[in-house]
Amino acid sequence: MKFTAKTLYGLENVLAGELEELGASDIQAANRAVLFSGSKELLYKVNYCSRSALSFLVPLSGFRIRSKEDLYKKASEVEWSEIMNHDSSFSVAPVVRSELFTHSGYPALIVKDAIADYFREKTGKRPSVNTTDPDVVINLHISNDHADISLDSSVIPLYKRGYRAEQGLAPLNEVLAAGMLMLAGWDGTLPLQDPMCGSGTLLIEAQMIANRIPPGKFRQFFGFTRWKDFDETLFNKVKKESEAQIIKSGTLVTGSDISEIAVRQAEANVRKAGLEGLVSIGLSDFRDVGRASDNGYLVINPPYGERLKPAEIENLYSMIGTTLKHHFAGNKAWIITSGKEYLNNIGLKPKKKYTLFNGALECVFAGYELYEGTKKQAGVKSP
Ligand SMILES: C[S@@+](CC[C@H](N)C(=O)[O-])C[C@H]1O[C@@H](n2cnc3c(N)ncnc32)[C@H](O)[C@@H]1O
Repeated sequence: MKFTAKTLYGLENVLAGELEELGASDIQAANRAVLFSGSKELLYKVNYCSRSALSFLVPLSGFRIRSKEDLYKKASEVEWSEIMNHDSSFSVAPVVRSELFTHSGYPALIVKDAIADYFREKTGKRPSVNTTDPDVVINLHISNDHADISLDSSVIPLYKRGYRAEQGLAPLNEVLAAGMLMLAGWDGTLPLQDPMCGSGTLLIEAQMIANRIPPGKFRQFFGFTRWKDFDETLFNKVKKESEAQIIKSGTLVTGSDISEIAVRQAEANVRKAGLEGLVSIGLSDFRDVGRASDNGYLVINPPYGERLKPAEIENLYSMIGTTLKHHFAGNKAWIITSGKEYLNNIGLKPKKKYTLFNGALECVFAGYELYEGTKKQAGVKSP
């Protein structure tokens, strides 16, 4: 079977690596997506175990269209009875960028009609459309004159892990947080510190990586469990085998934040993720935080600037730079920010940079190596 994994911009190679480890073949990275092949068991496994995918689609048909009639004809040719029954409910989720259609609701309606007519002709009955809780979600992607019809096997996007008790002010998407840790090259064994931890997303994703906890463990729902061919025994086997991989890593994961509310939210999320005792969180300004280790990683998601004045932002980023130089020698530090220019205030030269998107915001994810002597090289005077 062929599958398409969807992800966030910049995480395609991380996801391709994850899929390879999970047993996928014919892996091909694309734009915000990775194509691959595998069995039904693999589809269950990647839904349950992938940290950097947003969803997994099963392509049903891909074709060129020159008119709405082409879309109806091609959608009618799919063997829908292999996928659902006349008494199933379904919805069509459209993503449309094409001059052929000015409104994405219209092509979705055409596909709905094609499915309804298919069943009416075969059985005299038609499946019902249900947009809130359907049995089957069909993904319709039209880009210029190319259309793809797929089944969404995840339905609820996979960043919704199910451990979030508290939202926080500007929480990272869980897929982005896990992807950042993997892009940074953190392998789950070295100590990890997030001194601006907010609601704790990076800390939780980190301990889940370190302890090999499948990210699907807390989810109540996957789209494929409502499919006609759902194999519950096989899914239970996948869950059991994945959970058998869980270890007690002993990796030190620590966080802190200047806001009391954030600390409380992070603690609540850590508890809900079952990681109590494995993540320690303190109330502190970053400038006063000591290093948790002399060879660990810091991954930091500072406030971006939408909420702060330019002078406050400058001070904040130069404080981050000074603190890193003075207190974190031996560590690697990674910072995500939407303001490329803010990085200049850090006063260190990044070793690596990636472009990522946090929601609609284009961001830089920059990595620094901090060593004794960084102070001198950066021209910073000792305190
Ligand atoms: C963008 S949020 C982090 C969100 C977090 N990654 C999450 O997923 O919830 C930035 C955080 O930095 C904290 N912060 C701002 N200035 C700080 C400072 N000087 N020291 C420590 N934390 C600070 C804020 O309180 C806020 O929680």
